[in-house]
Amino acid sequence: MAKIRKAVFPVAGLGTRFLPATKASPKEMLPVVDKPLIQYAAEEAEAGGAEHLIFITGRHKRSIEDHFDKAYELEAELKEAGKHKLLELVQNVLPAHVNCIFLRQAEALGLGHAVLCAKPVVGNEPFAVILADDLIRNDDKGVVEQMAEVFDRTGASVLSVQEVPPGETDKYGIVATEPQPDGTLRVVSIVEKPKPADAPSNLAVVGRYLLTPTIFDKLEQTTPGAGGEIQLTDAIAALLEDEPVIAYPFAGKRYDCGSKEGYLEATVEYALSHPELGESFRAYLKQLAL
Ligand code: UTP
Repeated sequence: MAKIRKAVFPVAGLGTRFLPATKASPKEMLPVVDKPLIQYAAEEAEAGGAEHLIFITGRHKRSIEDHFDKAYELEAELKEAGKHKLLELVQNVLPAHVNCIFLRQAEALGLGHAVLCAKPVVGNEPFAVILADDLIRNDDKGVVEQMAEVFDRTGASVLSVQEVPPGETDKYGIVATEPQPDGTLRVVSIVEKPKPADAPSNLAVVGRYLLTPTIFDKLEQTTPGAGGEIQLTDAIAALLEDEPVIAYPFAGKRYDCGSKEGYLEATVEYALSHPELGESFRAYLKQLAL
């Protein structure tokens, strides 16, 4: 069975919930302690087997490209100053065998449209889609790797899902599922942001998908939905009619870093477990809480 070698990072959204921070730079460059969100996502994809990272960028593409590019001047200065540890950090943002590809989504026509922009590079093979503002921590095994194992066993598209409070279904794509004899959950329907009263469950799709290339045909046939955007959810609903799709309740803790609250929670928790900062930061928080 084909391996997941390619990961798509849609980073062309407007990030309106984080204005003015996202006025001139994408929200995926917001740092959690000392790494931008997009680097956590790229590392997770690489750990899951991805070798080609495809970024769908928008207006502010420069900073993401620069982050994954060689930084000649900075490297020369760190070398001259003998700052070898920092030099290593800057040089090893990604392992050498990983290839970064940047594509432009000229207009923010929705997540589905962003994924469709990757078609010429992904071609006819299964691929991952990662929304970097959903930061998911699982020290043992990243979510992409967990999902790749499900794909290996089943050959079906996989959506990462999580139970959300029933009152919050209108923030997510929500799935109805049917347990299968092999222990997986097969998706029987998916709806985008249903009102709590209309939601088929409280199982929400979060920002990790493994998709077969059939999704591109479905995206091409998808007409713009809410807000004039081409919704990935609508294309997945069409995919369900032709192929099995699995909902996978991942192991790990998710932080919605597209929201200020989730971003702050991630910052505090990553700082608390940071090897250099953890101890002193914990003491600081204790003192604050008095
Ligand atoms: P969101 O729904 O979070 O939208 O997009 P957004 O614009 O990024 O943020 P807010 O809600 O205005 O604050 C989900 C994902 O899809 C990408 C975004 O970058 C984000 O990762 N996206 C969305 C695109 O790449 N292109 C689009 O046209 C829309």
